Amino acid sequence: MKTRVFSGARPTGRQHIGNYLGAIQNYVALQNSGEFDCLYCIVDYHALTTMEEVGVSHLRGNIIDMAADWLAAGLDPNKATIFVQSHVPQVTELMLCLSMVTPIGQLMRSPSFKEKVKHHPDNVNYGLLGYPVLMAADILLYKAEVVPVGEDQLAHLELAREIVRRFNYHFGPTFPEPQPRLTSFPRVMGIDGKYKMSKSLDNYIELAADEPTTRELVGQMVTDPTRRLRTDPGHPEICNVYTLHRFFSPPARVAAVEQGCRSAALGCVECKAMLADDMNAQLAEFRARRATFSEDYIRDVLNEGAKKAAPLAEATLLEVKGKMGLA
Ligand code: AMP
Ligand code: TRP
Repeated sequence: MKTRVFSGARPTGRQHIGNYLGAIQNYVALQNSGEFDCLYCIVDYHALTTMEEVGVSHLRGNIIDMAADWLAAGLDPNKATIFVQSHVPQVTELMLCLSMVTPIGQLMRSPSFKEKVKHHPDNVNYGLLGYPVLMAADILLYKAEVVPVGEDQLAHLELAREIVRRFNYHFGPTFPEPQPRLTSFPRVMGIDGKYKMSKSLDNYIELAADEPTTRELVGQMVTDPTRRLRTDPGHPEICNVYTLHRFFSPPARVAAVEQGCRSAALGCVECKAMLADDMNAQLAEFRARRATFSEDYIRDVLNEGAKKAAPLAEATLLEVKGKMGLA
């Protein structure tokens, strides 16, 4: 049997370049390697843990938008299983089972829980506290061993491994310990240059943005903060714009940008205009492909994905319930 890969992402709508560089490019690479059995899931229950951010009325549209981005980026329903979390409801039952071996203190110490409490002190709900347990259930329902994610998810994965160890200890060997798979861009900074790129901080550039919007947002990007005057030499290694050049620009341009920045021959405005050109060129094919998927087609893909995932989920749940003395 092929090693199983699982990843999920909240349906926040159109995906940004942080999602792509940090996660989606690995979803596609793992799928195309032919060595793995890949499941990619749009985690709508997770989105509901912070309803105020996502907005319930946007959820269905966001799911379609996100799936369109995934397909345009190269996910292929013939090679990977692409589905919506709530369409395979066994995950909620597994979450309850796993909650019996999850220490509450660990959930309360989770960095993203603390951060969300800070941002939304008026809506600290039980679902939010249980977010990592549901994430563990996502992965373990399919006994996945490889989990492509960005760096911000490492603490959640550590907790999933802890849950596995406790479950296996109490009920016998059942789950493998899932390992993260990072890309070489595990933490993409936002256009503010200060925080990680994210929807909630409104510091993002969508993959599907049009060319002028991309140009405008790249123009707003904060560059090397130590370079105050046009004539100051810059430090590419601490510049977010240079980081993105490394992904989007051809090698000769990356080398020229680095040299031009260090010698102050190249100004930040010009450097950003070059990046916007390269981003628009690299993303042109993605954007054209994206426009070819109808909503009906996307719904079919997601329904078929859930049909493929359900028997796997059912088998794990039966095993778990049996081991826990429930069946
Ligand atoms: P989210 O949209 O927060 O559900 O994230 C979906 C996936 O993208 C997860 O694997 C995240 O770790 C990854 N991701 C989100 N934002 C970034 C970022 N700024 N840099 C790298 N990876 C990211
Ligand atoms: N917590 C992840 C995020 O915010 C989304 C997620 C849910 C996930 N379940 C998962 C990621 C399982 C990997 C595996 O991005």
